[in-house]
Amino acid sequence: MGVIFLIRFENVTKIYKGENEVVALKNIDLTINDGEIFGIIGLSGAGKSTLVRCINLLETPDEGRVLVDGVDMMNLTRRELRQHRKSIGMIFQHFNLLSSRTVAENVAFPLELSGVPKRQRIKKVRDLLELVGLSDKARAYPSQLSGGQKQRVGIARALANDQKILLCDEATSALDPQTTMSILELLKKINRERGITVVIITHEMHVIKEICDRVAVIEDGRIIETGIVEDVLLNPTTETARTFLKTVIKSEVPPEVAARLKESNGGELLQVTFLGGSTGEPIINEVVKNFDVVVNILYGNIDQIHDITFGMLVLKLTGPQRKQAKAFLEEKGLKVKVIDDV
Ligand SMILES: Nc1ncnc2c1ncn2[C@@H]1O[C@H](COP(=O)(O)OP(=O)(O)OP(=O)(O)O)[C@@H](O)[C@H]1O
Ligand SMILES: [Mg+2]
Repeated sequence: MGVIFLIRFENVTKIYKGENEVVALKNIDLTINDGEIFGIIGLSGAGKSTLVRCINLLETPDEGRVLVDGVDMMNLTRRELRQHRKSIGMIFQHFNLLSSRTVAENVAFPLELSGVPKRQRIKKVRDLLELVGLSDKARAYPSQLSGGQKQRVGIARALANDQKILLCDEATSALDPQTTMSILELLKKINRERGITVVIITHEMHVIKEICDRVAVIEDGRIIETGIVEDVLLNPTTETARTFLKTVIKSEVPPEVAARLKESNGGELLQVTFLGGSTGEPIINEVVKNFDVVVNILYGNIDQIHDITFGMLVLKLTGPQRKQAKAFLEEKGLKVKVIDDV
């Protein structure tokens, strides 16, 4: 049995016609698997929103096919499409809540539209508000909520009809970092507990790094890179991916640290980058034990994606066996760069 895909783009092209024709998507081939959290990252205007809007046919491709759950979306009648769209929820950067309705009434809205009887609606809304941690806000109005709470309402509403897919278009872009993390945690919980496939659009690499299983990098309407997150993050093959990468993996020495390093006398400064496998610490222990050197850690940055550790250390080596120590680090698979001989 092959991989079970839930969403598939086959050679999709989307052109916005008008005075200035814009080719927003160019020959997109993309497969999103059932149950995964898939990220799409790109700069402003790259075509991210157009891409997700093609999943539920809010935008119609000019060429190619979009398959959702085995169904060719463009072959559906209007009525079938409306039905099919119900299995796809969507949340937005600016929440798009109805301001004259309470939290509970906002969540109930799609249930009303699909004709769910009142008693069932009430129960469903209660369940959903509990899922997103807003049971105590049922009677509040959107204007009385924080951004994070509003997005929780958005999520509850997007899942009201037991959607199998949740599309998130910059859903955390209007939120502060801490609130962003709590929303990402909620999305992860929904994915893991309910098996909902989550598609996340973002221009922020840390969002991808935090919760996505796989990622596609989009530029000028084309997918330029795709793969599991740790592969794309740690071995980017395009300049754009590398640029995004720099925002999460700090492999440069900050200028104020560099200035401080210049002042440190004696020894040799090494920038050691490690990726996967070993973390820096135990290896440095070994260096100190095995060689006649003194190691000072002047700067460090260690992070993790899924179960892969990566990072960078700036070390000052003094003592007679510096050369051997350096060779040993390289033997262990670390990338070693001499910053400066002071
Ligand atoms: N309705 C439209 N009519 C004409 N051009 C459009 C329309 N929507 C988007 N575009 C153009 O298509 C291209 C892709 O836009 P899209 O909104 O998909 O980008 P995006 O990656 O979502 O950008 P952002 O990060 O700013 O939201 C852009 O050049 C944009 O100007
Ligand atoms: Mg957009």
